[in-house]
Amino acid sequence: MNWPGLISHYQPYLPVTEKTPRLTLQEGNTPLVHLAHLSKDLGIELYAKVEGANPTGSFKDRGMVMAVAKAVEDGSKSIICASTGNTSAAAAAYAAKAGIRAIIVIPNGKVALGKLAQAIMYGAEIVEIEGNFDEALAMVRKISETAPVTLVNSVNPYRIEGQKTAAFEICDQLGAAPDVLAIPVGNAGNISAYWKGFKEYNEEKQTGLPKMYGFEAEGAAAIVKGEPIANPETVATAIRIGNPASWNLATAARDESEGKIESVTDAEILEAFQLIARKEGVFAEPGSCASIAGVLQQVKNGSIKKGSKVVAVLTGNGLKDPQTAISQIEYNPVVLPNDENVIIDYIKGVVNE
Ligand code: F0G
Repeated sequence: MNWPGLISHYQPYLPVTEKTPRLTLQEGNTPLVHLAHLSKDLGIELYAKVEGANPTGSFKDRGMVMAVAKAVEDGSKSIICASTGNTSAAAAAYAAKAGIRAIIVIPNGKVALGKLAQAIMYGAEIVEIEGNFDEALAMVRKISETAPVTLVNSVNPYRIEGQKTAAFEICDQLGAAPDVLAIPVGNAGNISAYWKGFKEYNEEKQTGLPKMYGFEAEGAAAIVKGEPIANPETVATAIRIGNPASWNLATAARDESEGKIESVTDAEILEAFQLIARKEGVFAEPGSCASIAGVLQQVKNGSIKKGSKVVAVLTGNGLKDPQTAISQIEYNPVVLPNDENVIIDYIKGVVNE
């Protein structure tokens, strides 16, 4: 089947009218990969929903295709968002495809290189502020109240509508909802979207409901601590957010599903980052790996029971953030003279190890 993209495929489940443009970069329909080695080590059945396989390399494409299509339907010529990087890449790409302008407001020096490159290449109007994501979001929310621009952060309900489709796909790929859905939490839109998706699909098709396990980075764990964090810090810049906009929806998802929202340390995130690449061949950006780090933590403490079917959402592609891979993971390149014999001897030594 030639995949038509989210709006066409999931039209009956989305707020789509005849006038909604069928905008698409063929987002969605991402792989659900069985993580066989980790499953064996942990004694669970673990899968990764590889959202890095979306057109701009993150789950944001699902929400952005809806938000931009509806903005165009409503006659808007410009969209605006605050971003830690992925939202801005998706906004810029879909605005380019739709032929409208994207204005993105990002924290200076805190956006991974690949994401910044995307915004530049897709031709967004880029504003870097000497502040963090939360401050940028407050600013764009205010601007969008008076200026003729459509806000496309996840406070725009069409974003959540598009993003809920990932839950539909997981149910279709597994035949039913998993026991546990593990997901990174930043601004808390995605955990809310998945929960909405699982509930809607269950009503329609009796696919069951998972427990929602959300994971914040320890230095940005506002929901876990119960109060906003003025200066959030984490190696996982994607989720460097101290005052999540969808806080109440996220805690509702947690409570209704009898799940949890917990925090993982940067060390745990980096360990998971390396583990899934080396053991499973899946390269996901650090923020994404909060889900895997969380699964490791919750299996260890007994909260996720042996034999459980668990899906971890890997929200963004590892190539988004090559700098963290190179600077945080130990890497000792071997530099040899340009001499065939020396190189052959060296390689023989490696393969005989
Ligand atoms: N993972 C990645 C890779 C992200 O980019 C984000 C959020 C999240 C997880 C968290 O999702 O905010 O819905 O709880 N990135 C936003 C951005 C904030 O601007 O790209 P959330």
